[in-house]
Amino acid sequence: VIGAPEHAVYLADRRRVAAYERAIRRVVRPGDRVIDLGCGTGLLGFLALRSGAAHVTAVERGPIIHVARRVARRNGLEDRVTFVHGDSSEARLSRRADLLVTETMGPMGLDEGLIEAVADARRRLLRRGARIIPRTIWIRGQPVSAPDLNRKYRACRRIGGLRFDAVAEGLRHAWDLLEPGTGRALAPARRIARVDLHRADYPVEGAARFRARRAGWVHGWAIWFEALLCPGVRLVSRSATHWRPGFLPIHPPATVRRGDRLAIRLSFNGPAEFHWTGSCGSRTFAHSTCLYGAAPMVGPDARPRLSAAEAGKVKILGLMNGRRTVRQIARAVGGRGILAHVRRLCLRDGVSLNGKMR
Ligand SMILES: C[S@@+](CC[C@H](N)C(=O)[O-])C[C@H]1O[C@@H](n2cnc3c(N)ncnc32)[C@H](O)[C@@H]1O
Repeated sequence: VIGAPEHAVYLADRRRVAAYERAIRRVVRPGDRVIDLGCGTGLLGFLALRSGAAHVTAVERGPIIHVARRVARRNGLEDRVTFVHGDSSEARLSRRADLLVTETMGPMGLDEGLIEAVADARRRLLRRGARIIPRTIWIRGQPVSAPDLNRKYRACRRIGGLRFDAVAEGLRHAWDLLEPGTGRALAPARRIARVDLHRADYPVEGAARFRARRAGWVHGWAIWFEALLCPGVRLVSRSATHWRPGFLPIHPPATVRRGDRLAIRLSFNGPAEFHWTGSCGSRTFAHSTCLYGAAPMVGPDARPRLSAAEAGKVKILGLMNGRRTVRQIARAVGGRGILAHVRRLCLRDGVSLNGKMR
């Protein structure tokens, strides 16, 4: 049984669903071949079929794809959908598609791999002149006072007489989420960067200037997105949807007076690699997810080694040759509970339980 609480949230987000439904109705042409990139429960591809598309390739890396198959069957759509279980970068098509539809936007728009997945699909999976939903993404933001988040960073300094400042140092260069009711805006929101998905690739860069409407502490920046799904259909993640805005901290916090100027320059070099620099009044700031985290700890001379658990997985995956059954693999590696573990890996890696690739 595959639970789908996260996907139920997506389906229950009426603004999101209505905007995609409207855009798909406007953009799909009769007979279109469509890619639903990150199909989840299959919603967007199925809506495209209902709007006249001839065929959908529904690509999904998570186990939710098994639920999408079931949804297709129950709606009598299974003959017009090809499911591909895996990352879109591994998908192959016999014929390039006319339309790509995707909703792989994270809280800040680009933090879930949207750019690289769409850029790769444009190169390999879409015909020239193919349409893409969404068309354009704007990254929007504004400076905020967020004392609750700031308290969290401060709490990570000394606990039980022990130093935990290493944790706080990491948080300075990591993004967070602004929970509802937290974060007081210090200046009106602006568009910081524009991404045209028919062309975009990394790096994505943008900048904006602000003028403080009130005095206060600047703890960081609220960042969210606005998507133009097609001409006339917009989806703003901050307007009554399930998305919460991202939060990019600045450390130490700065103070501004009413009328002070603020500026931010934002660059995304990958889904997990971004930099935010700028100024708040006379103070400057420079943060980057590269300044702390895995990158500086793993130098070119490091000798990485698999953990015992990862080595076990590699052994199991090596035994999946399309001929051995799950039971035989479990027996070959031995150990209690291994049958369930092998089944999980089979599901995750798109191998059916009788050992054949899906
Ligand atoms: C926010 S959900 C949206 C699901 C569905 N399209 C909908 O609108 O309800 C995004 C889904 O895309 C999948 N996904 C993201 N990037 C992907 C990629 N490059 N290849 C395959 N699946 C991807 C995730 O696993 C997730 O299930």
